[in-house]
Amino acid sequence: MNLTLKVWKQKNSDSAGRLVSYAANGISPDSSFLEMLDQVNEELIVAGGEPIAFDHDCREGICGMCSLVINGVPHGPQRATTACQLHMRHFRDGQTITIEPWRARAFPIIRDLVVDRRALDRIIQAGGYISINTGSAPDANAIPIAKEVAEAAFDMAACIGCGACVAACPNASAMLFVAAKAAQLASLPQGQPERLKRAIHMVESMDRESFGNCSNHYECEAACPKEISVKAIAELNRDFFKATLVSREFSPLPPPVEVEE
Ligand code: SF4
Ligand code: FES
Repeated sequence: MNLTLKVWKQKNSDSAGRLVSYAANGISPDSSFLEMLDQVNEELIVAGGEPIAFDHDCREGICGMCSLVINGVPHGPQRATTACQLHMRHFRDGQTITIEPWRARAFPIIRDLVVDRRALDRIIQAGGYISINTGSAPDANAIPIAKEVAEAAFDMAACIGCGACVAACPNASAMLFVAAKAAQLASLPQGQPERLKRAIHMVESMDRESFGNCSNHYECEAACPKEISVKAIAELNRDFFKATLVSREFSPLPPPVEVEE
């Protein structure tokens, strides 16, 4: 396949970026999207040019590192597929492909297609954990968990923290990510003691990191390579609301006015 790539090039978050055209010739339809970029980079390096910076690690769809907006779609045109698992046979010979980074205020550009996604880590540090000691594997197995509950928790744990939901959302909201991480714990008995506190702390952290609010566009669910359902967001909203009702500490309402007798 012979393709034309229009790739976002940007030195760092302080400099201006622009789309630069590259020819990608002799690409095998069986190569992955990242292998295609490797081939282009090898040719650029041999010719003394500057390679295109892009993130990757496992290339198996499990680590969440790859982060390319391909022809305007986070992770590209294949549903439920990370950019690293996308193959060139899904494109046409002669096609022009535009490749951009995740765009969100909370994800500053490090270089070209690489963005800083540590804001997602800070949300996890704010509450995406349990504080109790669950013991070793035999101890954990001593608490019976119904199969459907375990499966529901695992469906949420499938979130790889890639941030495509943020890149797809017109408000750059991280609600699908936060909801998946909260729901995987909220589904299980070990996650109950801190459930409401966790909802508050994670949402507060998301706001601090400049992610936007959810306004039900559902673009996040469509872009998610792990098909996390927006139902998780409804569950998180319920927990957040309950937390503000049961605890004065978390209530957005002003404290009651004391009336003198
Ligand atoms: S919810 Fe989906 S799109 Fe968002 S970070 Fe997790 S896996 Fe990525
Ligand atoms: S490189 Fe690990 S999910 Fe794509």
